[in-house]
Amino acid sequence: MAAPRRNIELKASDPDPERSLAVVLGLGARDRGVLRQRDTYFRVSRGRLKLREEEPGGATLVQYDRVDADEARVSSYRLVPIEDPRKLCDALEASLGTLAVVEKERHLLLWQSVRIHLDRVEGLGNFVELEGVATQDSDLADELDRVTRLTEALEIAPERVLRNSYSDQVVGSSALVDAARAVMERAYAPYSKFRVGAALRAEDGSIHVGANVENAAYPQGQCAEASAIGAMIASGRRQITEVAVISDGDAPCVPCGGCRQRLREFIVPGAEIHMVGGAGQKLTSTLEKLLPRSFGPEFLPG
Ligand code: THU
Repeated sequence: MAAPRRNIELKASDPDPERSLAVVLGLGARDRGVLRQRDTYFRVSRGRLKLREEEPGGATLVQYDRVDADEARVSSYRLVPIEDPRKLCDALEASLGTLAVVEKERHLLLWQSVRIHLDRVEGLGNFVELEGVATQDSDLADELDRVTRLTEALEIAPERVLRNSYSDQVVGSSALVDAARAVMERAYAPYSKFRVGAALRAEDGSIHVGANVENAAYPQGQCAEASAIGAMIASGRRQITEVAVISDGDAPCVPCGGCRQRLREFIVPGAEIHMVGGAGQKLTSTLEKLLPRSFGPEFLPG
């Protein structure tokens, strides 16, 4: 398989796009005009896959993988020019299903081989995205340096940085809750009659689910969260960026003490945990709140 292309990228909300434009023009960025883009994200088991339709321009299938993180991160990607985007979209929709459609207006500027995107995303707001495009054998240090310089010039504070993709923002927690509800239907809970479903979002946006599995020897039963963590680990992911737990009970389903500790092993700081009840009532919290002063791998020697 041919090596993917790579870039260093950072995405942040932008409270003042006019100022951002003035700053990057002041640095000597070249203005490449405004593009209208429509991205259709498909449901895939690894990384992300989207069909981009661009005006002016054409259509491209984009496969990419990146680690959701609060700072500039490496993204590896493949671009495939597409002649008949509508037919491809129908085929992918039929076989994989569509996760989200994101439409935006993108003002594109170039500065020292960094692509600067001033994006107005429908339904989400304004964002600035920086992509330091790497040459094939680069160690990425120069790209990171340039993206960092622009981040400083644009005064992008850490709390403005987005951890995930526009599609995750559009899909939001509802896709995760839907996934948890669907797996809850398959729970094996003949003894308690209390069915639980859990869905975890991993670092690459993928969703992993599990249900509770009870046993006639009662203590051998397993919670939904434990099942979902097993599925996530089996797929090769190691980080949880968002959680949904649902039961068909009256109150929002809170993770038991043991499962809070299980989540603690893999969850990133500040990740949201949505606790949902049978009628859809929802509470959102974080592991820091549900399990304060918790024990983790960093306490162990070595
Ligand atoms: N249960 C879970 O699956 N997750 C939790 O965090 C709370 C409890 C399951 C275990 C058992 O099958 C049933 O709910 C009743 O305790």
